[in-house]
Amino acid sequence: ESIEVVIIGSGPAGLTLANLLQRAGVGCVVLERQSRSYVEQRQRAGVLEHHGARVFEEWGLAGSVLAGTSSDSTLEIRLDGRPRFIDVAALADGRAGRIVPQQVLVVRLIKAFLEGGGDLRFEAAEVTPHGLDGATPTVTYRDADGVVHEIECAYVAGCDGFHGVSRAGVPEGALTTYTYDHGVGWLTVLADAPAPRHPLFGIHPAGFAAQFARGPKASRFYLECAPGDSLDEWGDERIWEQLRLRLGDATLATGPITEKLFVEMRCFVADPMRYGRLFLVGDAAHIITPMGGKGMNLAIADANVLAHGLRAALREGDEGPLAAYSETCLKRVWDHQEFSRWMHEMMHEAGNAAPAGPFRRQLARARLERLFASDAAARAFADLMA
Ligand code: APR
Repeated sequence: ESIEVVIIGSGPAGLTLANLLQRAGVGCVVLERQSRSYVEQRQRAGVLEHHGARVFEEWGLAGSVLAGTSSDSTLEIRLDGRPRFIDVAALADGRAGRIVPQQVLVVRLIKAFLEGGGDLRFEAAEVTPHGLDGATPTVTYRDADGVVHEIECAYVAGCDGFHGVSRAGVPEGALTTYTYDHGVGWLTVLADAPAPRHPLFGIHPAGFAAQFARGPKASRFYLECAPGDSLDEWGDERIWEQLRLRLGDATLATGPITEKLFVEMRCFVADPMRYGRLFLVGDAAHIITPMGGKGMNLAIADANVLAHGLRAALREGDEGPLAAYSETCLKRVWDHQEFSRWMHEMMHEAGNAAPAGPFRRQLARARLERLFASDAAARAFADLMA
C-alpha cells in the first residue's frame, strides 16, 4: 500500500499532526505500538498554552478539542508559606492557557480523527522506517495477527517519543544532540485530592513543591528530592507531611495516591529535527522537564509547523516551509528550554539553599521579588508562560 505520510506514534504530537493533515486533505496513517486504551489512559501534561489552543482553533478543531475546558490564568507562588499571585493573562495581553489534561486531549483527538475517516492502527509491532534518505521511503510493521505490512510514503513523521525508533534509525553523526541534567530529583504523585484554586508553586527551605489540577477531583503534585532517592524512602505519610510543609498549608486536603514515580529531570534537543524524508516531532526531537509545562505544547507547535509544511509541499509544490521546519521549531524549543531552566533555578534555589549555596539563594529571591515589583519583569515571565 502507499500513502502520503506515515506517522509513527499516537501521543499528543502524532495525534495533533494526524488531525491537522486530515484537515489539510493530506493522506496519512498512524502506527502506534500500544493499545487504544493504554494511550487514552496515560496521564501526563495538564495545560495547553494559548498558542496550542490557537492551533486547534485555526484548523477548525476548537469544537472537538477545547469544548468545555476552562482557562487558567492565575498562578500562586507560596514563598515560605506566604501566598503571592500572578495574573498571567492580564500580563500577557489577554493570552491564557487552558486546563486540558493530556488524556482528555488524546481521547478527543482520537475521536475526531476516526470520525473524520482517519486510519489509526494500534498495537503495531516492530515499526521500522527504511530508505529515509531516498525519494520513496517505506515503513514496515507487524499487526496484532502477526501479519507484516509495508507502506510506501512520501514522508515519515517520527512522533514516537524520546525512546522511539525514528530518531534511533538516523545514522550516527547526522544529528547534533544537546543534553542537560538539572541535578535534582523530582517525585511526582497523582492523588484523588481536590484540585488547588490555581496552579500552585511552593518555595521552601525543605525543597520545592507544586500542585496542579487534573480535573476537579484530582491533583498532580511534584516534590523536589535527592537525585538518587528510591520510592521506599517516600512513603505516603512522608509525602503528605512534606507537601503540607512546603506548600505552607497545614490543612492540605489529601486523598488516595494513584501514581507515584520519579520524573526524568533531563533535557535533550536534536538538531536538525529532520533526516532526509523523516521529520522528528515532539519528544522524539526534544525533551524538557515539567517546569513551566512546555512538553506537550512544544509537541503541538511542532505538529502545526509540520502540517503547514507538508500541505505546502504536497498540495502547492512549495518545499520552502518544509525546508524551514527544523529551524522554525528549534527557535521555540530553545526559548522554552531557556524559560524552563530560568524558572527551575528560581523556584529551587530561592528555597532550598543546599545545592547551590546562600549567594545563589539571594539571587533567586531577587529574581522572584522582581516579578512582583516590576511590571516589565512580570510581563517578560508571562510572555513565555501564557
Ligand atoms: N512504534 C510505534 N509507536 C511507538 C513506538 C514504536 N517503536 N515507540 C513509541 N511509540 C508511541 C508511544 O507508545 C506513544 O504513544 O509513540 C507515542 C509517543 O508519545 P509521547 O511519548 O507522549 O510523545 P509526544 O507525542 O511527542 O508527546 C509530547 O506530551 O505530555 C507530554 O510528556 C509528554 O512531553 C511529552 C509531550
